[in-house]
Amino acid sequence: MAIIELRDLEYQYEESDEKVLKGLNKKIHQGEWLSIIGANGSGKSTLSRLFNGLSQPTGGSVLVLGKKTTEEDSLQMIRREVGMVFQNPEHQFVAPTVRDDIAFGMENAGVPREVMLERIDEVSRWVNIEHILHMEPHRLSGGQKQRAAIAGILALRPQVMVFDESTSMLDPNGRKEILETMNRLCRESGLTIISITHYLEEAFMSDRIWFMKAGRIEKDVTTANIPDQLEWMEAEGMPLPYKYQLYREAKKRRIDIRTLRTMVEGE
Ligand SMILES: Nc1ncnc2c1ncn2[C@@H]1O[C@H](COP(=O)(O)OP(=O)(O)O)[C@@H](O)[C@H]1O
Ligand SMILES: [Mg+2]
Repeated sequence: MAIIELRDLEYQYEESDEKVLKGLNKKIHQGEWLSIIGANGSGKSTLSRLFNGLSQPTGGSVLVLGKKTTEEDSLQMIRREVGMVFQNPEHQFVAPTVRDDIAFGMENAGVPREVMLERIDEVSRWVNIEHILHMEPHRLSGGQKQRAAIAGILALRPQVMVFDESTSMLDPNGRKEILETMNRLCRESGLTIISITHYLEEAFMSDRIWFMKAGRIEKDVTTANIPDQLEWMEAEGMPLPYKYQLYREAKKRRIDIRTLRTMVEGE
């Protein structure tokens, strides 16, 4: 069974006269890391809010573990199984310390106290925040904040985590930390990851890429063969990571890749 399935999914904002999502049919599988890329306004964030029932479809449906997000009885399960990490975690913190904040979410979910303490230890180890558990969330660096927010969600044991441009406000180090966290969660803990990003090098780390354009999923490609994808990405005006730009340029000019290596590395 797909962990998330989109069936003829449509979405239209009330005050708008055009659909933002136009009939999406897709399945997302357990344990995969899916990236969603596409220009501003193509519908990525709208779609991400439909994954866990934060918004409801205006046409078609979204199923999480076989249950429609519109079913009142399933919504609580769905919200727990699909965690969301946004661009700015600031507004997600409610408690005076990181530790209390993680505990607060679990308290709300009715997790027993002994289990809570164990989970705080466990998730802080996973995302490397053991040393900042006593700190006030607003005093943390961007990357630490984002990791603390991730810990709060992980403590609820979701099967899917959705990241909507969660690295875009971070410096390169902070970004690297979050990406390493995503990678570990997916590869070692089997979490299903959906990450919306405008950094292609991040998308290339995942298993599969959806390219959204004007409310449709125009491409659904595996990252097993990145060189085959570079041409359309370039044609869509996406800035390729440097090493791929170099590769494309060399190919265009028919420079042998081995020659390039010699040029870069010396004889
Ligand atoms: N709350 C809203 N009300 C009306 N239109 C919206 C709202 N949020 C987003 N939109 C419109 O929906 C389209 C898709 O937006 P969004 O899902 O945020 O795209 P992306 O995340 O890919 O930039 C855009 O045209 C945007 O202007
Ligand atoms: Mg967005």
